[in-house]
Amino acid sequence: MLRIGSLSLEQPTVLAPMAGLTDRVLRQLTDETGGCGLLVSEMIAAEGLRRRNRRTLEMIAGFPSRAPQFIQLFGADPGGLAEAAAIVAGDTGYAGIDLNMGCPVPKVVRSGAGSGLLRDLPRLAAVVAAVRRATRLPLTVKVRLGFHALNVMETTRIIEQEGADAVAVHFRLQSDGYAGSARWDLAAAIKEGLRIPLLGNGDIMTPDFALEKLQTVDGVLIGRGAVANPFIFREISGVGTSEDDLGMFVRRLGALIEEHYPERQRLGKLKAFTRFLVVGRPGSRAWKRRIFLSQDFRQARGFLEETFPLAGGNEP
Ligand SMILES: Cc1cc2nc3c(=O)[nH]c(=O)nc-3n(C[C@H](O)[C@H](O)[C@H](O)COP(=O)(O)O)c2cc1C
Repeated sequence: MLRIGSLSLEQPTVLAPMAGLTDRVLRQLTDETGGCGLLVSEMIAAEGLRRRNRRTLEMIAGFPSRAPQFIQLFGADPGGLAEAAAIVAGDTGYAGIDLNMGCPVPKVVRSGAGSGLLRDLPRLAAVVAAVRRATRLPLTVKVRLGFHALNVMETTRIIEQEGADAVAVHFRLQSDGYAGSARWDLAAAIKEGLRIPLLGNGDIMTPDFALEKLQTVDGVLIGRGAVANPFIFREISGVGTSEDDLGMFVRRLGALIEEHYPERQRLGKLKAFTRFLVVGRPGSRAWKRRIFLSQDFRQARGFLEETFPLAGGNEP
């Protein structure tokens, strides 16, 4: 069993934080589908939370789930992050906090946040220390291998020393973006240097790949692969799926988007999920084009449901 501070996860698997994707809808769907040990939110600006910005509060609105949920905070100011962490601990139902030190987006990096922290180690240490002082909630930190050059041995050691309960590593540099393959060959050496659990991340697209990597790391974070195959967590935990499950899944996806987003945002949300859902599926180009050219949520949802019919054609 994977322990993160005071928390024991039933499965050593985590839905990786993804802006625009791991919103309430995907976390709820992943939780309903089952098999996932921990759900992480989209990255949330500490500053927005500190100011109790209306949109930020909407983004973090909670819901009851079987698996625990963490909120991922980003920012560059230790004091601001500590204040945001205290708000999470006091006012929300989140079970823990993850700190974003991996985001490569230029605007985020320029502000010193995200992977910008990987090239300012005194600040990185101050951020972890300040958040640790502010809350006893389980605390994880998500990094990349380095900014332009590898410094993951040093960053993970600092993160452990400053009191984080686990560290997640996306095995790419900031400068890699998403190019090339994740450097899983470095996992064993990173783990060797740590006492806290190491969660590995990058390019997990199949249950077999995840199970193989779990021989080396304590847990895995799955991002794109969890949208491309919404049943990946269940399959890792040993429960099979059928094509019909995908039919049910896309219907539930449409229903939850409709429930949680106003009309003007629904089509964009459906397209964001669809972009990853098509990966590796035969014949996907044609139906992807249909959905992407669609101007209307109901129409796009109809195309998606046609593409993944239920066995016997019955609507639930
Ligand atoms: C659309 C998208 C949004 C992402 N947003 C975040 C984010 O908000 N915070 C974060 O730490 N990582 C973010 N990531 C990175 C993922 O968490 C993960 O590290 C990366 O996708 C590699 O894992 P994967 O191959 O399993 O997708 C994002 C990735 C994608 C594709």
